[in-house]
Amino acid sequence: MARTVIRGGLVVTAAEEVEADVLVEDDKVAALALRGSDTARTWADSGADVIDAAGHYVIPGGVDAHTHMEMPFGGTESADTFETGTRAAAWGGTTTIVDFAIQRPGQAVRDGVDAWMAKADDQCAVDYSFHAILSDVNESSLKEMDVLVDEGITSFKLFMAYPGVFYSDDGQILRAMQRGAANGALTMMHAENGIAIDVLVEQALAEGRTDPRYHGEVRKALLESEATHRAIQLARVAGAPLYVVHVSANEAVEELSRARAKGLNVFGETCPQYLFLSTDNLAEPDFEGAKYVCSTPLRPKEHQEHLWRALRTNDLSVVSTDHCPFCFSGQKDMGRGDFSKIPNGMPGVENRMDLLHQAVVDGHISRRRWIEIACATPARMFGLYPRKGTVSPGADADLVVYDPAAEQVVSAETHHMNVDYSAYEGRRLTGRARTVLSRGRVVVDDGAYLGEAGHGRFVPRSTCQYLV
Ligand code: URP
Ligand code: ZN
Ligand code: ZN
Ligand code: ZN
Repeated sequence: MARTVIRGGLVVTAAEEVEADVLVEDDKVAALALRGSDTARTWADSGADVIDAAGHYVIPGGVDAHTHMEMPFGGTESADTFETGTRAAAWGGTTTIVDFAIQRPGQAVRDGVDAWMAKADDQCAVDYSFHAILSDVNESSLKEMDVLVDEGITSFKLFMAYPGVFYSDDGQILRAMQRGAANGALTMMHAENGIAIDVLVEQALAEGRTDPRYHGEVRKALLESEATHRAIQLARVAGAPLYVVHVSANEAVEELSRARAKGLNVFGETCPQYLFLSTDNLAEPDFEGAKYVCSTPLRPKEHQEHLWRALRTNDLSVVSTDHCPFCFSGQKDMGRGDFSKIPNGMPGVENRMDLLHQAVVDGHISRRRWIEIACATPARMFGLYPRKGTVSPGADADLVVYDPAAEQVVSAETHHMNVDYSAYEGRRLTGRARTVLSRGRVVVDDGAYLGEAGHGRFVPRSTCQYLV
């Protein structure tokens, strides 16, 4: 048996902060022992390997519940493969991703799941799982949901946006939610009124408003909050829990807050880009704004303080990346002269843990809340807890020795994502993952990559563990 002691760190979980040593046996956390205790002394004398964590935090590996590796979208494919994207995740202290397997109209849900399983197989540096995207809700896809839930695919994303691509109408959404209420699946919603947005897109283009910033103007906050409201009411009618993805507008947060004040099982996710970037970025000249085109769109800066507050009150419970990178050169380019042809999505899987640690440094959230929104709650929301998302005996040894004092300057020159720009170029951050373990194996250490494609395994998930 391989034994490793992570010694001298401050163990930070969503629940507590404790000066403790962590014993790892093979791929699991075996035990924690208070510093200086007899048990900790026994470990020191046992000949186990030692990872020195003095002056560092020992945290659970990040759980990024929203990524899109090698996703065909907008006439191209997101630039990170499962290999490059999960390696970048590991560099950034994220040791589990949950990606999206896409059902296309006319296909079985199973076809999408099989295709995405094949893409990820033997490629991943860290563990992974899948949600399924439903683009064709019909009698047979509803039946498939039951089977997939039993196989560990327990969450399904529906789109109120992108008519003709992923869009479901309200009747389809209601049916999928009813099925989820019956089989335990969690409905994830892309809440934007895509029918209305398409009208505004057409009008903007006809009037010559073609620059990237108009992407933000036509995808109005009101059309996010309207869809959020509708999704909540449909979920209430179905008696189903609801998780709204990539929330960016304060008006949408208000819908979530109202629903949550009623005690409903309605949850919200936001992403670093909405917390740290704004329409100012979308308005950058020389088509640079295209780097920041994603949906829901970036909002005016005033929205940020509302998102931070909602993260503190738990009206937003999770921060995922929606990592969906497209290169500026050759991909974002496709939308020069027509913002609606800019592939939607931004990179970030490598940056999330550090950006959120910066939020701790800046006083937006506490250290334990950092771990809660980035590790523990996504794990519980999507049925991965306590195997993932915490540091406790029996959990997978997905651990990060985090240096809270390390200074870094984010740059595409030094990042590991397969994309030619960083959305956070030049940003100074305090904090960085020093040593990263995935199931007991050191995959990153002190600036060296020691991982391997194929180490990461598919993790089947139980149903949502976060319901009130
Ligand atoms: O712009 C985005 N968010 N791209 C990824 C697809 C989605 O809607 O999550
Ligand atoms: Zn979406
Ligand atoms: Zn409302
Ligand atoms: Zn997404």
